[in-house]
Amino acid sequence: MAEVDVVIMAAGKGTRMKSKLPKVLHTLAGRALLAHVVDTASSLLPRNVVVITGHGATEVEAAVPGYICDGAEYSVNFARQEPQLGTGHAVQQALPFLADDGVVLVLSGDVPLTQVDTLRQLVAASGGDKLALLTLELPDPTGYGRIERSGDAVQAIVEHKDATEAQRAIREIYSGIMAAPATRLRTWLARLDNRNAQSEYYLTDIVKMAVADGVPVVAHKITDEVQVAGVNSPVQLAELERAYQRQQAVALMEQGVRLADPARLDVRGSLVCGQDVSIDVNCVFEGAVTLGEGVKIGANCIIANARIAAGAIVHPFSHIDGEKAGVTVGVDARIGPFARLRPGAVLGADVHIGNFVEVKNSTLGPGAKANHLAYLGDATVGARVNFGAGSITANYDGVNKHRTVIGDDVHVGSNCVLVAPITVGAGGTVGGGSTLTKDAPEGVLSVARGRQVAIPHWKRAVKKAPL
Ligand code: UD1
Ligand code: CA
Repeated sequence: MAEVDVVIMAAGKGTRMKSKLPKVLHTLAGRALLAHVVDTASSLLPRNVVVITGHGATEVEAAVPGYICDGAEYSVNFARQEPQLGTGHAVQQALPFLADDGVVLVLSGDVPLTQVDTLRQLVAASGGDKLALLTLELPDPTGYGRIERSGDAVQAIVEHKDATEAQRAIREIYSGIMAAPATRLRTWLARLDNRNAQSEYYLTDIVKMAVADGVPVVAHKITDEVQVAGVNSPVQLAELERAYQRQQAVALMEQGVRLADPARLDVRGSLVCGQDVSIDVNCVFEGAVTLGEGVKIGANCIIANARIAAGAIVHPFSHIDGEKAGVTVGVDARIGPFARLRPGAVLGADVHIGNFVEVKNSTLGPGAKANHLAYLGDATVGARVNFGAGSITANYDGVNKHRTVIGDDVHVGSNCVLVAPITVGAGGTVGGGSTLTKDAPEGVLSVARGRQVAIPHWKRAVKKAPL
C-alpha cells in the first residue's frame, strides 16, 4: 500500500460566514472545523499533512494543533496560497511537500464530519494508480460539481456554474474529496487553465485529463450526506452541529444511556458513561468527562473535564469545570442544585455539596458536607466534616494563596471565616460567626467573635412628630 499524503484546502475566504474569524476556525462541537479535519486525516496515519492557508493565514496557522500518530506527535505543514485562484491552484501550492511515490488525499478544511473509514476506502479505491472521487447522489445538487459519466465510466466533473441544463440535471455530485497518485497529480496540475465561468484553476478539471491519459477514474459513492456536508454559512454550521450532536446522542443511547431528550444534549469532547446513566435536558459536556455506573445528571448542568464516580447525583443547574487540573466526584456524592466545582476539586465518597457552594483546589474526605452558600478554596477537608452555611476559607491575602486544613469530624458553624494558612484539629467545633486567624486545637470549641452583651437602659431613637 502506498504512503498517504494529505492536503487540506483552507485558504478560501468564507464570505458567507460574514465573520472576522476565518471560516475554518469556526467551531463545531467546541473544536475548529479544521481541527476536526486534521484529526480525521491523522487517523489514516499519513506520511504528511499539508494545510493550504491564505485568507487569515497567520491566525489559521497559529490555531492548528499538532496531531498524534502512533503515540508520536507531528506538526502539520503549511503552504500559503496568495492570491486564491481556485482549488487546483490551492493544491499546486502543496506540491513541494509531496513525494512522487504516494497517494495524495485532498480534503477541505470546511468539511468536518467525514469518517475515517470512508477516507480509507477512497484511498484503497485509488490503489496508488487510479484517480478516486468521493461522490454521492443529492435530491438537490445545486451548486455542486456534477459527475458526468458515459455509460458507467466517469468522464469529467462539471462545475455548476459551467454546466448546461442537461448536466445540471445530474444528481451525482463530487464531494470535494479525492485521492490521486502523486506523480499523475503533479503533471495534471501543471496543465490546468482558468478558462471557465469563474476564471479559477479548478482541481476538478484533472478528471478529464485522467480520462485522456487512460488513467482509470473510480467514483466511490456513499449515501451519508453529513460526511460531505460543507460549512459555508452560520445556518449550515448550526445544522451540522445538530446533526453531529444527534449522532453522539444516538451512540450514547445505543450504549444504554438514558437521555431525557436527545435533541437537548451537547457533547463537545468525549463523554464516557457506565451502565444506567441518565441525563436530563439541556446538559453540556466539554473536554473529557466520565460518568460512572448509575450516575444521574439533572437538567441544565454544564460539566467539563471531570470524573464522576458511580452512584453520584448532580442536581440541576450545577457547573463543574475541571479545566486542566480536573474535578473528581466520589461514589454516591450529591452535588447541587446550583453548585460550582472548579479545577482541583477532589470529592470523596458520599460528599454533599449544596446550593451556591463553590469548591476549588480542595480535597474533601468521605462524607464531608457543605450544603449551603459556602466557599472552600485551597483546603484539605477531613472525613465527615460539616461546613456551615455562609462559611468560607479565606485563601487569598491579596498576593499569595494559602491552605486551610480541617481535620476529620470537625463541625464548622455558620458564617465562619477561616483565614489561611490555618489548621482546625480533628473533632473540633468552630462557633458560628467566628473569624479564625490562628490554628484551632483538636476536639475543642473554638470561638472567635465579639461576646454577646445585653445593654440595659439603652434607648432606641424615636421619630419626632412633625412640628
Ligand atoms: C468545490 C468543487 C465542487 C464540489 C464542491 C464540494 C472545485 C472547482 N469544485 O466547489 O466540484 O462539488 O467543492 O463542496 O474544486 N479553497 C482554497 N483556495 C482557493 C479556493 C478554495 O484553499 O483558491 C478551499 C476553500 O477554502 C474550501 C475548499 O477549497 O475549503 C473548496 O472551495 P470552494 O470555493 O468552497 O469550492 P466549491 O465551489 O464549493
Ligand atoms: Ca464549498
